[in-house]
Amino acid sequence: MTATAWTLRGATTEYTVRRAGSWLELVAWGPHGVSDGPSPLDFHGKVQYMAAGDVAAVEYVPDGLRPFLGPDLVLATRSTYWELAGVAEVAGGLRATFADRVSGLRAETHYRFAPGTDVIERWVTLHNDGPAEVSVVELGSAGYCVPTPAGARLTYLCGQWSQEFTETAHVQRRGRFEIGSAQGVTGHQFSPYLAVGDAASPDRAWSVSLAWSGSWRIAADTDAAGMTRIRAGRSLVDGPVTLARGGTLGTPVAAGAYSDDGVGGLARAWHAYERALAGARLDRPRPVVYNSWEATHFDVTADGQAALAEIAAGLGVETFVVDDGWFTGRADDRGGLGDWTPDPATFPDGFAAFAERIRATGMTFGLWVEPEMVNPPSALYAAHPDWVYRADGRPMTTIRHQYLLNLGRPDVFAFVRDTLAGLLRAYPIGYLKWDFNRPRTEAGGIGDVDGAHVANLYRILDHLRAAFPDVVVEGCAAGGARVDLAMAARADVVWPSDNTAPMDRLRIQHGFLLAHAPHLMSSWVTDATGMFDDRPRSLDFRFVLAAAGSLGIGADIARWTAAERATAAAWVARYKAVRGVIAGGDVYRIGDPASPRCAIQYTLGDRTVVLAWNTGVLDGLGQVPGRDLRLPLRGLDAAARYGDGAATYSGAHLMAAGLPVRWTASHDASMTELRRLS
Ligand code: DGJ
Repeated sequence: MTATAWTLRGATTEYTVRRAGSWLELVAWGPHGVSDGPSPLDFHGKVQYMAAGDVAAVEYVPDGLRPFLGPDLVLATRSTYWELAGVAEVAGGLRATFADRVSGLRAETHYRFAPGTDVIERWVTLHNDGPAEVSVVELGSAGYCVPTPAGARLTYLCGQWSQEFTETAHVQRRGRFEIGSAQGVTGHQFSPYLAVGDAASPDRAWSVSLAWSGSWRIAADTDAAGMTRIRAGRSLVDGPVTLARGGTLGTPVAAGAYSDDGVGGLARAWHAYERALAGARLDRPRPVVYNSWEATHFDVTADGQAALAEIAAGLGVETFVVDDGWFTGRADDRGGLGDWTPDPATFPDGFAAFAERIRATGMTFGLWVEPEMVNPPSALYAAHPDWVYRADGRPMTTIRHQYLLNLGRPDVFAFVRDTLAGLLRAYPIGYLKWDFNRPRTEAGGIGDVDGAHVANLYRILDHLRAAFPDVVVEGCAAGGARVDLAMAARADVVWPSDNTAPMDRLRIQHGFLLAHAPHLMSSWVTDATGMFDDRPRSLDFRFVLAAAGSLGIGADIARWTAAERATAAAWVARYKAVRGVIAGGDVYRIGDPASPRCAIQYTLGDRTVVLAWNTGVLDGLGQVPGRDLRLPLRGLDAAARYGDGAATYSGAHLMAAGLPVRWTASHDASMTELRRLS
C-alpha cells in the first residue's frame, strides 16, 4: 500500500505530514502521539474568493498554489504551479519532490529531526531541469502551520546596537507580522527567531529559527479561520536569483520546535539543539577570557597588555585576548583594517615574542580580527579598490569609516582565508575573535551577492575549524549583529552585545537565552555603568551575571584594588567549578529583569546552579520588616533532598515554596549550588 502520511519523530515530539493533491500538508506537530486523531488544522466549509492553498496547512508551495496569503516560492514568471512527484523516506528524514511541467523546476523539500533533539530541520533544494533559466523572486526555506484559534501570541527578540535580544510579545488576531534584516548580516534589529502560540493556551508553543547570517525574513500570517502560518527564509535583497539550466539552488535550514512548556520549554529545545551543533567541541570547557577592549581601546602597547595579562592570570583567567588596535595603521577606527600586520611600533620585540610573553603567564593567547573589512587609507584598499562592495558612479557609504569586502569574489575569499590561516600559523593563537562592524549597503554586482558572501564566510569558518581545531572562535558583529543558528554551528561563543553594564546586560542576556544556549553566551565583567539603566550594582552582581554564560573579564583590572582582585579570583574559581552545569544544564528562567524576582536555574543530573540578581532598589533593605524572596525551581524530584552546604531542602519545597534569597544593601546577587543528596 502506498503511504499517504509520514511521521517524523524527535526526542519527545513528532511532526506528521500527508499528501493532499499538489502539496504536502501538516497533520499535527506536538508531543509523541499528537498525530493520532483528526488534524487540528483541517478545515470545513467552502473556500470563498481565494484558493484552497491559502486556507490549507500547506507545507511548502509556490504562488500558483497559494496566491494570496503568502507563498513560500515565487518565480519571476509568477503563478508557478507544481505536482507532488513523490515522497521518499531517507536516512533520518523525509524528502518530498515537486515538479513544475511548464518551467521544468523541480523542488525537493527536506525534513529531519536533529538526532536526540526536538528540533526539526527543513530546507529546500531547487533544480532547474527545464530548457531556460529560471528567475527566483522569493525563496523561502519552509512554512510552518500553527493552530491559533484565539489569535496568535508572537514572541520575538528585537533591539538595536547595545540593546540586542529584547524579548517582546504581542497578540496578533489577523494579518501579517514580519521581521527580518536587509543588511547582508543577521542584524541587531531582530533575531531570526519567532515563537507562536495560541493566545488562549500560552503553554503550547511553536517556534521557528533560521540558520542564515545574511539578509532574511520571518513572517507570520494569521488567517480568519484560526491558523497562523510562519514562513522563514532568505530575503533576496539583491533582486531575483537566476537558476541556470541544469543548476541547483539550496536554501538555509529553517528549524522548528514545539514545547508544551511555553517559550521556556522552547528555549530548552533550542539549547539542546545548539549543544548538538557544537558536538564534541562542547566537551572542552569554554575558557575564562580576559579581553582588553574596554580597558585600553585602541591604546594597545606591549607592556600595557602584558601588565594586564599578569593580573588576569592571577585571577585565574585562562585566555588573554588582545582586541582591536594591534595592527599597523590602527591608531583609531579610521585606519588599518585590511592590513593585518602587527604594528612594529606597538610590539618592538616582535609579535611572536609578545604572544609568548602572554603565554608565559600560563594563559592562551587570543586575537581580535575583522577580516571582511577595509579602511580607505589602508594598503589593501590602495592595491584592490575593486574588492569592496560599490555601485559604480554612486557615492560609497562608509560606516565606522570602513568598507565591506566583497567576500563572494574568489580573490577576496582566498585573501581572507589565507590571511587568517597565516596569522594562526605564524603566531601561537588559541582564540580568535571575528568581528564585523558594518552592514552591507552597496550591492556590488549582479547576482546572488548576499548568498555568495555568506557561503564564503561559512567556508572560511569551516576551513579554520578543520585546519585549526584547537582554536576557540568567538563570533562578534558590533555586539550581537551576527547571532543565528548558522553561527551557533561554527563559533564556540558569540558576543551578544557591546553593552556590558549590569542592568542593561541582564535584560540582553535574559532575551538571548530564549533562543540561544548558555555555552554560546560570551559575557564580561566590566566597569561599565549603564546606558538604559544606570543603577549601580556590586562586583558580585557583575560576576554572577557574566557567569550565566561563558565568563570573561573586560574591566580595567589594573585599576582594581587588591580586595576587588581577591573577589574576582574567588568568583573565577567558583565559576570554573560550576561551568559544566551552566554549559550543559537544562535552563529555567525564573521571573525576569523587569520584576523583583530574576534568576536562572541550570540543572544537570544531580547538580543545580541558581544565579539570582536583585533587580530592585538596594537602599533600605533590612531596616524594616521584609520576607525572603523565593525562587520557585523547576524540574527537580519532589521526593528528593537537595543541599547547599548547611541548608537542605526537599525538592517539593524548592519547587513549591522556592529557594530563599535574602538581599541586603550590599548583597545584590547570588550563586547557589545545590546537589541532590538522596
Ligand atoms: C565591536 C565589538 O563588539 C567590540 O567588542 C570590540 O571588539 C570593538 N568592535 C573593536 O573595534
